[in-house]
Amino acid sequence: MIVTIDGPAGAGKSTVARSLARRLGYSHLDTGAMYRAVALAGLQSKVDWNRPEQLAELATTLDLRVSGERIYLRGEDVTDAVRSQEVTSVTRHAANHPQVRDHLVLLQRAVATEQNMVTEGRDQGTVVFPQAECKIFLTASAEERARRRQRDLQQRGEPETLEQILADQERRDHEDATREVGPLLRAEDAVEVLTDGLTQDQVVDRLEELVRSRMT
Ligand code: DC
Repeated sequence: MIVTIDGPAGAGKSTVARSLARRLGYSHLDTGAMYRAVALAGLQSKVDWNRPEQLAELATTLDLRVSGERIYLRGEDVTDAVRSQEVTSVTRHAANHPQVRDHLVLLQRAVATEQNMVTEGRDQGTVVFPQAECKIFLTASAEERARRRQRDLQQRGEPETLEQILADQERRDHEDATREVGPLLRAEDAVEVLTDGLTQDQVVDRLEELVRSRMT
Protein backbone atom coordinates (compact mmCIF):
# COMPACT_ATOMS: atom_id res chain seq x y z
CA MET A 1 0.00 0.00 0.00
CA ILE A 2 1.12 3.57 -0.69
CA VAL A 3 0.25 6.18 1.94
CA THR A 4 0.85 9.78 0.85
CA ILE A 5 1.25 12.66 3.29
CA ASP A 6 1.28 16.11 1.75
CA GLY A 7 1.13 19.48 3.45
CA PRO A 8 2.92 22.78 4.03
CA ALA A 9 6.33 23.27 5.67
CA GLY A 10 6.23 22.82 9.42
CA ALA A 11 3.04 20.76 9.57
CA GLY A 12 5.07 17.97 11.17
CA LYS A 13 5.05 15.66 8.15
CA SER A 14 8.54 14.20 8.58
CA THR A 15 8.31 13.10 12.22
CA VAL A 16 4.75 11.87 11.79
CA ALA A 17 5.48 10.01 8.54
CA ARG A 18 8.55 8.32 10.04
CA SER A 19 6.67 7.24 13.14
CA LEU A 20 3.63 6.06 11.16
CA ALA A 21 5.85 4.04 8.82
CA ARG A 22 7.57 2.39 11.78
CA ARG A 23 4.27 1.41 13.37
CA LEU A 24 2.99 -0.07 10.11
CA GLY A 25 6.27 -1.76 9.19
CA TYR A 26 6.38 0.30 5.98
CA SER A 27 9.31 2.17 4.49
CA HIS A 28 9.37 5.97 4.64
CA LEU A 29 10.29 8.38 1.86
CA ASP A 30 11.03 12.06 2.58
CA THR A 31 10.79 13.64 -0.88
CA GLY A 32 11.65 17.12 0.46
CA ALA A 33 15.10 15.74 1.29
CA MET A 34 15.54 14.86 -2.40
CA TYR A 35 14.83 18.46 -3.52
CA ARG A 36 17.15 19.67 -0.77
CA ALA A 37 19.90 17.27 -1.93
CA VAL A 38 19.70 18.63 -5.49
CA ALA A 39 20.02 22.15 -4.06
CA LEU A 40 23.00 21.08 -1.95
CA ALA A 41 24.61 19.61 -5.07
CA GLY A 42 24.00 22.96 -6.79
CA LEU A 43 25.80 24.77 -3.96
CA GLN A 44 28.69 22.31 -4.04
CA SER A 45 29.03 22.59 -7.83
CA LYS A 46 28.58 26.38 -7.64
CA VAL A 47 25.86 26.45 -10.28
CA ASP A 48 24.67 29.86 -11.41
CA TRP A 49 21.13 30.07 -9.93
CA ASN A 50 20.23 32.52 -12.71
CA ARG A 51 20.85 29.77 -15.24
CA PRO A 52 18.34 27.08 -14.31
CA GLU A 53 19.52 24.78 -17.11
CA GLN A 54 22.76 24.24 -15.15
CA LEU A 55 20.83 22.86 -12.19
CA ALA A 56 18.66 20.68 -14.45
CA GLU A 57 21.71 19.14 -16.08
CA LEU A 58 23.31 18.53 -12.72
CA ALA A 59 20.13 16.98 -11.26
CA THR A 60 19.53 14.56 -14.10
CA THR A 61 23.08 13.18 -13.99
CA LEU A 62 23.45 13.21 -10.22
CA ASP A 63 24.35 10.19 -8.10
CA LEU A 64 21.45 10.56 -5.61
CA ARG A 65 20.37 7.57 -3.56
CA VAL A 66 17.84 7.03 -0.84
CA SER A 67 18.37 4.16 1.56
CA GLY A 68 16.01 3.80 4.51
CA GLU A 69 16.08 7.08 6.43
CA ARG A 70 19.34 8.27 4.84
CA ILE A 71 20.01 10.18 1.65
CA TYR A 72 23.33 9.97 -0.20
CA LEU A 73 24.78 12.44 -2.64
CA ARG A 74 27.72 11.18 -4.69
CA GLY A 75 28.12 8.45 -2.07
CA GLU A 76 28.19 10.84 0.88
CA ASP A 77 25.52 10.74 3.60
CA VAL A 78 23.94 14.24 3.45
CA THR A 79 20.82 13.52 5.55
CA ASP A 80 21.72 16.16 8.13
CA ALA A 81 23.51 18.57 5.79
CA VAL A 82 20.40 19.09 3.61
CA ARG A 83 18.48 20.56 6.55
CA SER A 84 20.76 23.61 7.02
CA GLN A 85 19.42 27.13 6.53
CA GLU A 86 21.79 27.65 3.60
CA VAL A 87 20.31 24.69 1.73
CA THR A 88 16.73 25.63 2.72
CA SER A 89 17.22 29.08 1.22
CA VAL A 90 18.11 27.75 -2.27
CA THR A 91 15.91 24.63 -2.45
CA ARG A 92 13.21 26.54 -4.32
CA HIS A 93 15.49 26.55 -7.39
CA ALA A 94 15.23 22.75 -7.45
CA ALA A 95 11.54 22.58 -6.51
CA ASN A 96 10.48 25.11 -9.16
CA HIS A 97 12.32 23.50 -12.05
CA PRO A 98 10.08 21.26 -14.22
CA GLN A 99 12.93 19.01 -15.40
CA VAL A 100 14.28 18.54 -11.90
CA ARG A 101 10.77 17.65 -10.74
CA ASP A 102 10.23 15.17 -13.59
CA HIS A 103 13.48 13.46 -12.73
CA LEU A 104 12.77 13.26 -8.98
CA VAL A 105 9.21 12.01 -9.62
CA LEU A 106 10.70 9.08 -11.55
CA LEU A 107 13.15 8.34 -8.73
CA GLN A 108 10.31 8.49 -6.18
CA ARG A 109 8.19 6.03 -8.18
CA ALA A 110 11.21 3.74 -8.55
CA VAL A 111 11.69 3.68 -4.76
CA ALA A 112 8.03 2.73 -4.33
CA THR A 113 8.13 -0.31 -6.60
CA GLU A 114 6.77 -3.33 -4.78
CA GLN A 115 7.10 -1.73 -1.36
CA ASN A 116 4.60 -0.67 1.25
CA MET A 117 5.52 2.94 1.79
CA VAL A 118 4.62 6.17 3.57
CA THR A 119 5.77 8.99 1.31
CA GLU A 120 5.67 12.67 2.20
CA GLY A 121 6.03 15.92 0.30
CA ARG A 122 3.82 18.38 -1.56
CA ASP A 123 2.69 16.48 -4.66
CA GLN A 124 2.68 12.86 -3.55
CA GLY A 125 -1.09 12.35 -3.62
CA THR A 126 -1.68 14.56 -6.65
CA VAL A 127 1.16 13.99 -9.14
CA VAL A 128 3.46 11.19 -8.03
CA PHE A 129 1.01 8.58 -6.69
CA PRO A 130 -2.49 9.58 -7.82
CA GLN A 131 -3.59 5.93 -7.32
CA ALA A 132 -2.39 5.77 -3.69
CA GLU A 133 -4.78 3.86 -1.45
CA CYS A 134 -4.57 6.34 1.41
CA LYS A 135 -3.94 10.07 1.06
CA ILE A 136 -3.48 12.49 3.94
CA PHE A 137 -3.19 16.27 3.86
CA LEU A 138 -1.44 17.28 7.08
CA THR A 139 -1.60 20.89 8.12
CA ALA A 140 -1.44 23.31 11.07
CA SER A 141 -1.93 27.04 11.59
CA ALA A 142 0.87 29.38 10.46
CA GLU A 143 1.75 30.30 14.08
CA GLU A 144 1.95 26.71 15.21
CA ARG A 145 4.14 25.77 12.25
CA ALA A 146 6.49 28.70 12.87
CA ARG A 147 6.85 27.84 16.55
CA ARG A 148 7.78 24.25 15.64
CA ARG A 149 10.33 25.47 13.10
CA GLN A 150 11.81 27.81 15.73
CA ARG A 151 12.24 24.88 18.14
CA ASP A 152 13.89 22.77 15.40
CA LEU A 153 16.30 25.57 14.51
CA GLN A 154 17.16 26.18 18.16
CA GLN A 155 18.03 22.50 18.52
CA ARG A 156 20.27 22.77 15.46
CA GLY A 157 22.03 25.79 17.01
CA GLU A 158 20.62 28.14 14.33
CA PRO A 159 18.27 30.40 16.38
CA GLU A 160 15.88 32.73 14.51
CA THR A 161 13.19 35.17 15.63
CA LEU A 162 9.56 34.11 15.24
CA GLU A 163 8.94 37.16 13.02
CA GLN A 164 11.70 36.13 10.63
CA ILE A 165 10.48 32.54 10.54
CA LEU A 166 6.89 33.65 9.88
CA ALA A 167 8.03 35.90 7.03
CA ASP A 168 10.12 33.12 5.44
CA GLN A 169 7.30 30.64 5.92
CA GLU A 170 4.78 32.94 4.25
CA ARG A 171 7.08 33.32 1.27
CA ARG A 172 7.65 29.55 1.06
CA ASP A 173 3.90 28.84 1.39
CA HIS A 174 3.25 31.23 -1.46
CA GLU A 175 5.95 29.61 -3.61
CA ASP A 176 4.66 26.14 -2.78
CA ALA A 177 1.08 27.04 -3.69
CA THR A 178 1.82 28.95 -6.89
CA ARG A 179 4.52 26.72 -8.41
CA GLU A 180 3.63 25.91 -12.02
CA VAL A 181 4.61 22.27 -11.66
CA GLY A 182 3.87 20.12 -8.61
CA PRO A 183 2.26 22.86 -6.50
CA LEU A 184 1.07 22.10 -2.98
CA LEU A 185 -2.54 20.99 -3.41
CA ARG A 186 -4.86 18.85 -1.39
CA ALA A 187 -5.88 15.87 -3.54
CA GLU A 188 -9.65 15.64 -3.79
CA ASP A 189 -9.61 12.24 -2.13
CA ALA A 190 -7.17 13.21 0.66
CA VAL A 191 -8.25 13.34 4.28
CA GLU A 192 -7.25 16.65 5.89
CA VAL A 193 -5.80 16.47 9.39
CA LEU A 194 -5.21 19.70 11.35
CA THR A 195 -2.54 19.11 13.98
CA ASP A 196 -2.88 22.26 16.14
CA GLY A 197 -3.10 21.28 19.80
CA LEU A 198 -2.44 17.58 19.12
CA THR A 199 0.63 15.75 20.35
CA GLN A 200 2.68 13.85 17.81
CA ASP A 201 1.40 10.56 19.21
CA GLN A 202 -2.20 11.70 18.88
CA VAL A 203 -1.61 12.61 15.23
CA VAL A 204 0.07 9.27 14.50
CA ASP A 205 -2.76 7.39 16.30
CA ARG A 206 -5.28 9.11 14.08
CA LEU A 207 -3.36 8.40 10.89
CA GLU A 208 -2.69 4.79 11.84
CA GLU A 209 -6.40 4.26 12.41
CA LEU A 210 -7.13 5.79 9.02
CA VAL A 211 -4.59 3.66 7.17
CA ARG A 212 -5.71 0.44 8.88
CA SER A 213 -9.31 1.18 7.94
CA ARG A 214 -8.20 1.25 4.30
CA MET A 215 -6.43 -2.10 4.50
CA THR A 216 -9.56 -4.23 4.54
O1 DC B 1 9.40 19.41 3.24
P1 DC B 1 10.73 20.18 3.04
O2 DC B 1 10.78 21.49 3.77
O3 DC B 1 11.92 19.32 3.36
O4 DC B 1 10.79 20.50 1.48
C1 DC B 1 11.88 21.18 0.92
C2 DC B 1 11.44 21.97 -0.29
O5 DC B 1 11.12 21.08 -1.35
C3 DC B 1 10.24 22.87 -0.10
O6 DC B 1 10.55 24.11 -0.70
C4 DC B 1 9.12 22.22 -0.86
C5 DC B 1 9.82 21.36 -1.86
N1 DC B 1 9.15 20.08 -2.10
C6 DC B 1 8.47 19.95 -3.26
O7 DC B 1 8.38 20.90 -4.05
N2 DC B 1 7.87 18.76 -3.56
C7 DC B 1 7.94 17.73 -2.72
N3 DC B 1 7.36 16.58 -3.02
C8 DC B 1 8.65 17.87 -1.51
C9 DC B 1 9.23 19.06 -1.22
